[in-house]
Amino acid sequence: MNRIAVFASGSGSNFQAIADAVGKGILQAEISLLVCDKPGAQVIERARKLHIPIFTFVPNTFASKAHFEKEIVSELEAYNVKLIVLAGYMRLIGEVLLEAYEGRILNIHPSYLPAFPGKDAVGQALEADVAETGVTVHYVDSGMDTGPIIEQVKIPVRPGDTREMLQKRIQNAEHQLYPAIINKLLQKDTIGGLVQ
Ligand code: GRF
Repeated sequence: MNRIAVFASGSGSNFQAIADAVGKGILQAEISLLVCDKPGAQVIERARKLHIPIFTFVPNTFASKAHFEKEIVSELEAYNVKLIVLAGYMRLIGEVLLEAYEGRILNIHPSYLPAFPGKDAVGQALEADVAETGVTVHYVDSGMDTGPIIEQVKIPVRPGDTREMLQKRIQNAEHQLYPAIINKLLQKDTIGGLVQ
């Protein structure tokens, strides 16, 4: 079984979509671990309900990013995790994780990258008054939403769209796209060229 870990910091609607896809057999994988840097995040409750193991930590109680990432890597290795899936994990990945999981870390971003990287991509698109934005799944490198793009879809920005309306349209697309891409990559064993 393809063992994946999901990293999240917030509500976890993408975590839920991934878990639902696993439940339906659309995604042939097991979520072996949720990694969360916010002990009060809603995603933790979602994982609890599904009996998915959780590793939660408070970053500023560690001396550095390298220190907490070493802990994360130990957890990932203990669960024999093959692929890391970032789903609203609000931190840059550091050297320790990048080295341990090179080519095996994915992220989803709510824009058609390279447009609108970083925080509040939905707000950035509305502010820029563009006719379309999108969703991007990409490999993670040390930059902010800069890694190689795997798949993208375009999402229209409609006249009169509120932030909530646009966000909902984007999230619906994310919830379809991310599980499908994860499954495709795992089935093809194209994750960093590694087969376990
Ligand atoms: C998603 O829009 C994702 O693209 C971005 O963070 C958001 C997380 O939302 N990276 P959720 O916690 O999955 O609901």
